[in-house]
Amino acid sequence: MNDSVKNSEKTSADNALDRVLVMEMVRVTEAAAIAASYLIGRGDEKAADAAAVEAMRTAFDELYMDGTVVIGEGERDEAPMLYIGEKVGGAPGRGPKIDIALDPLEGTTITAKAGPNSLAVLAAAEEGCLLNAPDVYMEKLAVGPGYPDDVISLEKTPTQNVEAVAAAKGVKPAEIIVCVLDRPRHADIIAELRGIGCGVYLIPDGDVAGVIAVTDEDTTIDMYIGTGGAPEGVLAAAALRCVGGQFNGRLIFRNDDERGRARKWGIEDLDRIYKLEDLASGDCIFAATGVTDGSLLEGVKHRRGGLMTTESVVMRASSGTVRWVKGEHRPASCARPND
Ligand code: FBP
Repeated sequence: MNDSVKNSEKTSADNALDRVLVMEMVRVTEAAAIAASYLIGRGDEKAADAAAVEAMRTAFDELYMDGTVVIGEGERDEAPMLYIGEKVGGAPGRGPKIDIALDPLEGTTITAKAGPNSLAVLAAAEEGCLLNAPDVYMEKLAVGPGYPDDVISLEKTPTQNVEAVAAAKGVKPAEIIVCVLDRPRHADIIAELRGIGCGVYLIPDGDVAGVIAVTDEDTTIDMYIGTGGAPEGVLAAAALRCVGGQFNGRLIFRNDDERGRARKWGIEDLDRIYKLEDLASGDCIFAATGVTDGSLLEGVKHRRGGLMTTESVVMRASSGTVRWVKGEHRPASCARPND
Protein backbone atom coordinates (compact mmCIF):
# COMPACT_ATOMS: atom_id res chain seq x y z
CA MET A 1 0.00 0.00 0.00
CA ASN A 2 1.47 3.39 -0.94
CA ASP A 3 1.61 6.48 1.29
CA SER A 4 -1.37 8.27 -0.17
CA VAL A 5 -3.55 5.23 0.37
CA LYS A 6 -2.34 4.96 3.99
CA ASN A 7 -3.04 8.65 4.63
CA SER A 8 -6.50 8.42 3.16
CA GLU A 9 -7.21 5.39 5.31
CA LYS A 10 -6.71 7.49 8.43
CA THR A 11 -9.18 10.15 7.31
CA SER A 12 -11.75 7.98 5.60
CA ALA A 13 -15.11 8.23 7.33
CA ASP A 14 -18.04 5.86 7.06
CA ASN A 15 -19.52 8.18 4.48
CA ALA A 16 -18.45 6.44 1.30
CA LEU A 17 -17.87 9.61 -0.67
CA ASP A 18 -15.86 11.38 2.00
CA ARG A 19 -14.35 14.75 1.29
CA VAL A 20 -10.89 13.41 0.66
CA LEU A 21 -12.20 11.17 -2.06
CA VAL A 22 -14.08 14.01 -3.74
CA MET A 23 -10.91 16.04 -4.21
CA GLU A 24 -8.81 13.01 -5.08
CA MET A 25 -11.06 12.19 -8.02
CA VAL A 26 -9.57 15.18 -9.82
CA ARG A 27 -6.15 13.53 -9.74
CA VAL A 28 -7.67 10.63 -11.62
CA THR A 29 -9.18 12.73 -14.42
CA GLU A 30 -6.02 14.89 -14.56
CA ALA A 31 -3.86 11.82 -15.06
CA ALA A 32 -6.06 10.58 -17.91
CA ALA A 33 -6.24 14.00 -19.57
CA ILE A 34 -2.48 14.52 -19.41
CA ALA A 35 -1.80 11.09 -20.86
CA ALA A 36 -4.24 11.72 -23.73
CA SER A 37 -2.88 15.21 -24.36
CA TYR A 38 0.32 13.84 -25.89
CA LEU A 39 -1.86 12.41 -28.66
CA ILE A 40 -3.88 15.58 -29.42
CA GLY A 41 -3.95 16.16 -33.16
CA ARG A 42 -1.94 13.00 -33.90
CA GLY A 43 -4.81 11.34 -35.78
CA ASP A 44 -4.75 8.20 -33.64
CA GLU A 45 -7.97 7.80 -31.67
CA LYS A 46 -7.10 4.38 -30.32
CA ALA A 47 -3.71 5.42 -28.99
CA ALA A 48 -5.20 8.49 -27.30
CA ASP A 49 -7.91 6.39 -25.67
CA ALA A 50 -5.46 3.68 -24.58
CA ALA A 51 -3.16 6.26 -22.98
CA ALA A 52 -6.04 7.81 -21.04
CA VAL A 53 -7.36 4.41 -19.93
CA GLU A 54 -4.02 3.23 -18.61
CA ALA A 55 -3.35 6.48 -16.75
CA MET A 56 -6.82 6.50 -15.19
CA ARG A 57 -6.49 2.85 -14.16
CA THR A 58 -3.17 3.56 -12.44
CA ALA A 59 -4.43 6.72 -10.72
CA PHE A 60 -7.42 4.89 -9.23
CA ASP A 61 -5.06 2.58 -7.38
CA GLU A 62 -3.79 5.55 -5.36
CA LEU A 63 -7.23 6.03 -3.81
CA TYR A 64 -8.47 4.46 -0.62
CA MET A 65 -11.61 2.85 -1.94
CA ASP A 66 -13.09 -0.44 -3.01
CA GLY A 67 -14.31 0.69 -6.41
CA THR A 68 -16.25 -1.12 -9.09
CA VAL A 69 -16.53 0.10 -12.66
CA VAL A 70 -20.22 0.11 -13.59
CA ILE A 71 -19.83 2.11 -16.78
CA GLY A 72 -16.49 1.72 -18.48
CA GLU A 73 -14.62 0.81 -21.61
CA GLY A 74 -16.89 -2.10 -22.45
CA GLU A 75 -17.50 -5.61 -21.24
CA ARG A 76 -14.69 -7.78 -19.94
CA ASP A 77 -14.06 -9.57 -23.24
CA GLU A 78 -13.99 -6.25 -25.14
CA ALA A 79 -11.73 -4.11 -22.99
CA PRO A 80 -8.41 -4.99 -21.38
CA MET A 81 -8.75 -2.33 -18.70
CA LEU A 82 -11.53 -0.42 -16.96
CA TYR A 83 -14.11 -2.93 -18.18
CA ILE A 84 -17.52 -3.15 -16.57
CA GLY A 85 -17.23 -5.02 -13.29
CA GLU A 86 -13.49 -4.40 -12.89
CA LYS A 87 -12.39 -3.61 -9.35
CA VAL A 88 -10.40 -0.38 -9.00
CA GLY A 89 -8.93 1.45 -6.03
CA GLY A 90 -6.16 0.77 -3.56
CA ALA A 91 -8.27 -0.76 -0.80
CA PRO A 92 -10.28 -3.70 -2.16
CA GLY A 93 -12.42 -5.32 0.50
CA ARG A 94 -11.52 -2.61 3.03
CA GLY A 95 -12.28 0.82 1.62
CA PRO A 96 -15.67 2.39 0.98
CA LYS A 97 -17.61 0.63 -1.73
CA ILE A 98 -17.92 3.03 -4.64
CA ASP A 99 -19.49 2.54 -8.05
CA ILE A 100 -17.76 4.37 -10.86
CA ALA A 101 -18.91 5.46 -14.30
CA LEU A 102 -16.01 6.61 -16.40
CA ASP A 103 -14.91 7.73 -19.79
CA PRO A 104 -11.13 8.25 -19.69
CA LEU A 105 -11.35 10.01 -23.03
CA GLU A 106 -14.77 11.39 -23.94
CA GLY A 107 -14.17 12.53 -27.52
CA THR A 108 -11.55 10.24 -29.01
CA THR A 109 -12.10 11.65 -32.51
CA ILE A 110 -12.01 15.20 -31.19
CA THR A 111 -8.65 14.49 -29.56
CA ALA A 112 -7.24 12.87 -32.69
CA LYS A 113 -8.31 15.92 -34.72
CA ALA A 114 -7.53 18.53 -32.03
CA GLY A 115 -11.16 19.68 -31.99
CA PRO A 116 -13.00 21.25 -29.04
CA ASN A 117 -14.49 19.73 -25.88
CA SER A 118 -12.75 16.42 -25.26
CA LEU A 119 -12.67 15.47 -21.60
CA ALA A 120 -11.43 12.88 -19.16
CA VAL A 121 -14.50 12.27 -17.05
CA LEU A 122 -15.91 10.13 -14.26
CA ALA A 123 -18.82 9.94 -11.88
CA ALA A 124 -18.69 8.13 -8.55
CA ALA A 125 -21.52 7.18 -6.23
CA GLU A 126 -22.31 4.85 -3.40
CA GLU A 127 -22.81 1.26 -4.46
CA GLY A 128 -25.95 0.77 -6.53
CA CYS A 129 -26.62 4.45 -7.24
CA LEU A 130 -25.54 4.70 -10.90
CA LEU A 131 -27.56 3.09 -13.69
CA ASN A 132 -25.60 0.22 -15.23
CA ALA A 133 -26.34 1.50 -18.71
CA PRO A 134 -25.48 -0.81 -21.59
CA ASP A 135 -23.33 0.60 -24.36
CA VAL A 136 -26.24 1.52 -26.62
CA TYR A 137 -27.63 4.82 -27.79
CA MET A 138 -29.78 7.07 -25.63
CA GLU A 139 -32.18 9.83 -26.65
CA LYS A 140 -31.34 12.82 -24.49
CA LEU A 141 -33.14 15.99 -23.57
CA ALA A 142 -31.80 18.47 -21.03
CA VAL A 143 -32.28 21.96 -19.65
CA GLY A 144 -30.39 23.82 -16.96
CA PRO A 145 -31.58 24.77 -13.47
CA GLY A 146 -34.36 27.22 -12.62
CA TYR A 147 -37.25 25.78 -14.64
CA PRO A 148 -40.51 24.35 -13.28
CA ASP A 149 -40.45 20.59 -12.77
CA ASP A 150 -41.05 18.54 -15.92
CA VAL A 151 -40.79 21.53 -18.24
CA ILE A 152 -39.29 19.14 -20.79
CA SER A 153 -40.32 15.63 -21.74
CA LEU A 154 -39.26 13.06 -24.32
CA GLU A 155 -42.99 12.42 -24.81
CA LYS A 156 -43.23 15.85 -26.45
CA THR A 157 -41.95 17.00 -29.83
CA PRO A 158 -38.88 19.25 -30.07
CA THR A 159 -41.21 22.16 -30.92
CA GLN A 160 -43.39 21.53 -27.85
CA ASN A 161 -40.31 21.33 -25.63
CA VAL A 162 -38.90 24.54 -27.05
CA GLU A 163 -42.24 26.29 -26.56
CA ALA A 164 -42.43 25.12 -22.94
CA VAL A 165 -38.88 26.26 -22.17
CA ALA A 166 -39.43 29.57 -23.96
CA ALA A 167 -42.65 30.23 -22.01
CA ALA A 168 -40.91 29.43 -18.70
CA LYS A 169 -37.97 31.65 -19.63
CA GLY A 170 -40.23 34.45 -20.81
CA VAL A 171 -38.84 34.59 -24.35
CA LYS A 172 -40.04 33.66 -27.83
CA PRO A 173 -39.35 30.11 -29.08
CA ALA A 174 -37.11 31.62 -31.77
CA GLU A 175 -34.83 32.94 -29.02
CA ILE A 176 -34.12 29.46 -27.65
CA ILE A 177 -30.70 28.00 -28.42
CA VAL A 178 -30.45 24.22 -28.69
CA CYS A 179 -27.29 22.14 -28.77
CA VAL A 180 -27.44 19.08 -31.05
CA LEU A 181 -24.84 16.48 -32.02
CA ASP A 182 -24.09 16.93 -35.73
CA ARG A 183 -25.25 13.61 -37.13
CA PRO A 184 -27.42 12.65 -40.13
CA ARG A 185 -29.84 10.95 -37.70
CA HIS A 186 -30.66 14.40 -36.31
CA ALA A 187 -31.57 15.98 -39.65
CA ASP A 188 -35.29 16.07 -38.85
CA ILE A 189 -34.78 17.54 -35.38
CA ILE A 190 -32.44 20.21 -36.76
CA ALA A 191 -34.88 21.09 -39.55
CA GLU A 192 -37.78 21.30 -37.08
CA LEU A 193 -35.81 23.53 -34.70
CA ARG A 194 -34.62 25.82 -37.49
CA GLY A 195 -38.18 25.88 -38.83
CA ILE A 196 -39.35 27.60 -35.65
CA GLY A 197 -36.38 29.94 -35.71
CA CYS A 198 -34.25 28.40 -32.93
CA GLY A 199 -30.49 28.73 -32.92
CA VAL A 200 -29.00 25.26 -33.34
CA TYR A 201 -25.47 24.79 -32.01
CA LEU A 202 -24.07 21.76 -33.75
CA ILE A 203 -21.28 19.90 -32.01
CA PRO A 204 -19.11 17.34 -33.84
CA ASP A 205 -18.76 15.02 -30.83
CA GLY A 206 -18.71 15.15 -27.07
CA ASP A 207 -22.26 15.26 -25.78
CA VAL A 208 -21.23 15.10 -22.10
CA ALA A 209 -19.96 18.66 -22.49
CA GLY A 210 -22.94 19.42 -24.75
CA VAL A 211 -25.46 18.45 -22.07
CA ILE A 212 -23.55 20.20 -19.29
CA ALA A 213 -23.46 23.37 -21.43
CA VAL A 214 -27.16 23.91 -20.62
CA THR A 215 -26.22 24.59 -17.00
CA ASP A 216 -23.81 27.41 -17.88
CA GLU A 217 -25.42 30.70 -18.91
CA ASP A 218 -22.18 31.80 -20.57
CA THR A 219 -22.69 29.19 -23.28
CA THR A 220 -26.13 30.75 -24.06
CA ILE A 221 -27.36 27.19 -24.72
CA ASP A 222 -30.84 26.59 -23.28
CA MET A 223 -31.49 22.99 -24.23
CA TYR A 224 -29.80 19.84 -25.38
CA ILE A 225 -31.65 17.49 -27.75
CA GLY A 226 -30.50 14.35 -29.54
CA THR A 227 -29.22 10.80 -29.44
CA GLY A 228 -25.75 9.82 -28.24
CA GLY A 229 -24.11 7.17 -26.09
CA ALA A 230 -26.05 5.90 -23.06
CA PRO A 231 -22.91 5.77 -20.87
CA GLU A 232 -22.30 9.45 -21.68
CA GLY A 233 -25.92 10.09 -20.68
CA VAL A 234 -25.30 8.70 -17.18
CA LEU A 235 -22.13 10.80 -16.83
CA ALA A 236 -23.92 13.98 -17.89
CA ALA A 237 -26.84 13.17 -15.58
CA ALA A 238 -24.45 12.85 -12.63
CA ALA A 239 -23.17 16.36 -13.37
CA LEU A 240 -26.69 17.76 -13.57
CA ARG A 241 -27.54 16.09 -10.26
CA CYS A 242 -24.78 18.22 -8.74
CA VAL A 243 -25.53 21.61 -10.32
CA GLY A 244 -29.25 21.34 -11.07
CA GLY A 245 -31.16 20.99 -14.29
CA GLN A 246 -33.52 18.46 -15.81
CA PHE A 247 -32.79 15.46 -17.99
CA ASN A 248 -34.81 12.84 -19.83
CA GLY A 249 -33.11 9.82 -21.35
CA ARG A 250 -34.53 6.83 -23.25
CA LEU A 251 -32.42 3.90 -24.41
CA ILE A 252 -32.45 3.15 -28.13
CA PHE A 253 -31.95 -0.43 -29.26
CA ARG A 254 -30.95 -1.20 -32.84
CA ASN A 255 -31.11 -5.00 -32.62
CA ASP A 256 -31.76 -7.98 -30.37
CA ASP A 257 -28.15 -8.11 -29.26
CA GLU A 258 -28.51 -4.62 -27.77
CA ARG A 259 -31.82 -5.54 -26.12
CA GLY A 260 -30.11 -8.60 -24.68
CA ARG A 261 -27.31 -6.46 -23.27
CA ALA A 262 -29.84 -4.26 -21.52
CA ARG A 263 -31.64 -7.23 -19.98
CA LYS A 264 -28.30 -8.60 -18.84
CA TRP A 265 -27.79 -5.42 -16.82
CA GLY A 266 -31.23 -5.76 -15.26
CA ILE A 267 -33.16 -3.36 -17.47
CA GLU A 268 -36.67 -4.74 -17.92
CA ASP A 269 -38.64 -1.79 -19.25
CA LEU A 270 -36.84 -1.04 -22.51
CA ASP A 271 -38.98 2.04 -23.27
CA ARG A 272 -38.53 3.68 -19.92
CA ILE A 273 -37.83 7.40 -19.74
CA TYR A 274 -35.08 7.99 -17.20
CA LYS A 275 -34.82 11.19 -15.21
CA LEU A 276 -31.82 12.40 -13.25
CA GLU A 277 -32.49 10.38 -10.09
CA ASP A 278 -33.02 7.22 -12.16
CA LEU A 279 -29.56 7.57 -13.67
CA ALA A 280 -27.59 8.84 -10.68
CA SER A 281 -29.23 8.68 -7.26
CA GLY A 282 -28.08 9.43 -3.73
CA ASP A 283 -24.87 11.32 -3.23
CA CYS A 284 -22.61 11.41 -6.25
CA ILE A 285 -19.47 13.07 -7.52
CA PHE A 286 -18.73 14.24 -11.03
CA ALA A 287 -15.16 15.09 -12.04
CA ALA A 288 -13.73 16.11 -15.39
CA THR A 289 -10.48 17.49 -16.76
CA GLY A 290 -10.27 19.16 -20.16
CA VAL A 291 -8.13 17.42 -22.76
CA THR A 292 -8.74 19.95 -25.54
CA ASP A 293 -10.16 23.45 -24.97
CA GLY A 294 -13.93 23.54 -24.72
CA SER A 295 -17.04 25.23 -23.36
CA LEU A 296 -16.65 23.54 -19.98
CA LEU A 297 -12.89 23.43 -19.45
CA GLU A 298 -9.57 24.49 -20.89
CA GLY A 299 -7.50 21.69 -22.31
CA VAL A 300 -4.11 20.46 -21.20
CA LYS A 301 -1.36 22.91 -22.17
CA HIS A 302 2.23 21.81 -22.62
CA ARG A 303 4.41 24.79 -21.74
CA ARG A 304 8.10 25.54 -21.67
CA GLY A 305 10.35 23.50 -19.46
CA GLY A 306 7.96 20.56 -19.37
CA LEU A 307 5.35 22.44 -17.33
CA MET A 308 1.80 21.31 -18.03
CA THR A 309 -1.36 23.07 -16.95
CA THR A 310 -4.76 21.50 -16.56
CA GLU A 311 -8.25 22.69 -15.72
CA SER A 312 -10.72 20.43 -13.95
CA VAL A 313 -14.07 20.60 -12.26
CA VAL A 314 -15.33 18.45 -9.42
CA MET A 315 -18.89 18.59 -8.16
CA ARG A 316 -20.80 16.87 -5.40
CA ALA A 317 -24.55 16.30 -5.35
CA SER A 318 -25.09 16.28 -1.58
CA SER A 319 -23.53 19.71 -1.06
CA GLY A 320 -24.01 21.20 -4.54
CA THR A 321 -20.38 22.32 -4.31
CA VAL A 322 -18.59 22.95 -7.58
CA ARG A 323 -14.82 23.35 -7.49
CA TRP A 324 -12.76 24.54 -10.42
CA VAL A 325 -9.22 23.25 -10.12
CA LYS A 326 -6.27 24.70 -12.04
CA GLY A 327 -3.31 22.33 -11.97
CA GLU A 328 0.35 22.95 -12.68
CA HIS A 329 2.29 19.78 -13.29
CA ARG A 330 6.06 19.89 -13.41
CA PRO A 331 8.29 17.11 -14.64
CA ALA A 332 9.97 15.27 -11.77
CA SER A 333 13.28 16.91 -12.70
CA CYS A 334 11.76 20.36 -11.96
CA ALA A 335 10.08 19.41 -8.67
CA ARG A 336 11.27 21.40 -5.70
CA PRO A 337 12.53 19.54 -2.62
CA ASN A 338 9.65 18.53 -0.32
CA ASP A 339 7.08 18.81 -3.16
P1 FBP B 1 -16.04 8.72 -28.15
O1 FBP B 1 -15.36 9.31 -26.99
O2 FBP B 1 -16.25 7.27 -28.01
O3 FBP B 1 -15.37 9.13 -29.41
O4 FBP B 1 -17.53 9.33 -28.15
C1 FBP B 1 -17.78 10.62 -28.55
C2 FBP B 1 -19.26 10.84 -28.74
O5 FBP B 1 -19.46 12.01 -29.51
C3 FBP B 1 -20.06 10.95 -27.45
O6 FBP B 1 -19.93 12.19 -26.82
C4 FBP B 1 -21.46 10.69 -27.93
O7 FBP B 1 -22.31 10.29 -26.89
C5 FBP B 1 -21.22 9.59 -28.95
O8 FBP B 1 -19.87 9.74 -29.40
C6 FBP B 1 -22.14 9.63 -30.13
O9 FBP B 1 -21.97 8.47 -30.87
P2 FBP B 1 -21.83 8.46 -32.47
O10 FBP B 1 -20.46 9.02 -32.80
O11 FBP B 1 -21.94 7.03 -32.83
O12 FBP B 1 -22.89 9.29 -33.03
